[in-house]
Amino acid sequence: MQDLTGKTAVITGAASGIGFALAQVFAEQGMQLVLADIETDALEKRVTELRSQGAAVLGVVTDVGDDASVAALASAAAETYGNVHLLCNNAGVYTGGLLWEQTEADFEWVMRVNQWGIIHGIRHFVPAMIEHGQDCHIVNTASMAGLCTLPIAGIYHMTKHAALALSECLYHDLALSAPQIGVSCLCPELADTEIARARRNRPATLAEENQTAMHEFAHAAISDATSQSKPPRVLAERVLQGVLERQFYLLPPADDPWIKTAHKRLDDVHAARNPEFLAPEI
Ligand SMILES: NC(=O)c1ccc[n+]([C@@H]2O[C@H](COP(=O)([O-])OP(=O)(O)OC[C@H]3O[C@@H](n4cnc5c(N)ncnc54)[C@H](O)[C@@H]3O)[C@@H](O)[C@H]2O)c1
Repeated sequence: MQDLTGKTAVITGAASGIGFALAQVFAEQGMQLVLADIETDALEKRVTELRSQGAAVLGVVTDVGDDASVAALASAAAETYGNVHLLCNNAGVYTGGLLWEQTEADFEWVMRVNQWGIIHGIRHFVPAMIEHGQDCHIVNTASMAGLCTLPIAGIYHMTKHAALALSECLYHDLALSAPQIGVSCLCPELADTEIARARRNRPATLAEENQTAMHEFAHAAISDATSQSKPPRVLAERVLQGVLERQFYLLPPADDPWIKTAHKRLDDVHAARNPEFLAPEI
């Protein structure tokens, strides 16, 4: 997509972190914004903030893990702004710990948001994009966790591998049948966001959380690492470039430690070597 002015962007997980940085960057491009998030107060605050800067913004409380909720988001976006041109399936959550110690609710919650969130976005927005026929773009937020595997974060790695595979398959399907719609997959390194506090948005029905020492250790580690990382604005600017240039893989710079870890994993697969734990030096 080249000219973003006056076009409409829908961003999920837009009340915090990378999602809000995306909203700021696309507002600066003169886009109309639909911000979707499960956290009502934070969403309201972000909508007010962007409106005070002159942006046209609609906030829609949405649970991306819920099919009807994403259908309602698509209807609200269409009713307010007409055609949607850019969809950022960005909402995501994290939980950590040893795989066999995680509860069923841990698996279900993270899979609902990180995988089903993207699936619902694809199902409820792509048909209308194909129908209106204008240039469009879809950005799915995966992670460098989708390109390598590390201990005590198995659920997160599994869902981010799924997010990357879904995105690659969406790219193939659209190239075949609707090439005016571009696709990017954002695979961020660590960023200073609220992801370590993701449990704040766990639904009551999936509240049963693994409480083991390893789980707490994993959460302390991610909290520590993200708080010392780069501002999410850096990633939002990477996404803007990717949308303008129709670039699929949105990766950290070549010298980033996560790139080394991802290459090591691919080399292991290539050489049929057993996986080796190589922590990114962060
Ligand atoms: N921060 C990092 O280091 C990092 C690294 C790689 C990938 N990511 C990915 O970036 C994306 C954004 O995360 P972030 O780091 O900005 O975290 P964040 O917690 O700051 O923002 C995530 C937003 O998603 C919202 N959300 C959670 N569950 C939702 C649901 N069911 N429906 C709708 N919204 C929901 C939250 O309320 C929050 O506003 C996620 O997909 C995450 O996995 C983050």
